[in-house]
Amino acid sequence: MELRHLRYFVAVAEECNVTKAALRLHIAQPPLSRQIQQLEEMLGVQLFERNSRPLKLTEAGRFFYSHAVQLLAQTTEIEAMTRRVGKIERSLSVGFVGSTLYGMLPKIIRRFRTENSTVELSLHEMSTMDQIKALKEGRIDVGFGRIRHEDPSIRRIVLREERMIVALPTGHPLIDAKPVLSLHDLTSETLIIFPKAPRPSYADQVLAAFHDRGLKPQRLYETRELQIALGLVGAGEGISIVPASAYGLQRGDVAYKDLDDQNLVSPIIMSMRMLDESADLRRMLELIYALYDEEQMTYLPPSHQ
Ligand code: BEZ
Repeated sequence: MELRHLRYFVAVAEECNVTKAALRLHIAQPPLSRQIQQLEEMLGVQLFERNSRPLKLTEAGRFFYSHAVQLLAQTTEIEAMTRRVGKIERSLSVGFVGSTLYGMLPKIIRRFRTENSTVELSLHEMSTMDQIKALKEGRIDVGFGRIRHEDPSIRRIVLREERMIVALPTGHPLIDAKPVLSLHDLTSETLIIFPKAPRPSYADQVLAAFHDRGLKPQRLYETRELQIALGLVGAGEGISIVPASAYGLQRGDVAYKDLDDQNLVSPIIMSMRMLDESADLRRMLELIYALYDEEQMTYLPPSHQ
């Protein structure tokens, strides 16, 4: 069996139609049908139900599909990594979600550049889910995001669990009502969440925090990103639950309050390709832990991963 057979089979399985799969693969339909037939003969099993329209996978077909997809993903990964290993000039592409810019990311990048001046570093803002795809396609080498997404070809390290805090418009009665607030205190407010898309995102972590405690905010206002959410809070449109690092974004019209529940956290996750053991990535991870120690920050030590 050759990789070609896997590519052809996956295209037909995903399109449920040989004509559409042939178009996607830029080949003619008859050779594609022959290759699928050949594959079934080689395996000695039927992969598609006979005469089903649209095409339906048999049980063996579904088993073969899930493994074929993984194998193809691994070949893309090997290609990307081999190119990277073979590069004479060293480069490191970093994907990050916008909210990490208010945390340690700028410091990490600056320090890494200073200590590794021969490495060409590039930064790309993208969602956690896009980071996973970009890692597999070799477009980035490391991603910093907030969503715990399982993928067999991605290694994930939870660096720390960042506390969530509340942003309220100055003059709001809750600011002086208590030293710390609970989510229960906030249910009658308009909750401004971000990012609106793509999902799942930090917005879903905030919504899950309410849901898990049996609470439901009265009104929701979805917006694109943290800075806009804070602007809307300042304008008195509602309140927002933000990562504690947003505290650094001081504005005259927004006040921040702590929350009473230690479990209200959002993780900062470093993701990389499972087989990537590059020295640059190792150095970046060591640098992150060194900065956490310098800043006396609470983090999840590597032994707890
Ligand atoms: C942090 O704030 O801890 C952080 C942000 C981005 C990358 C790594 C760590």
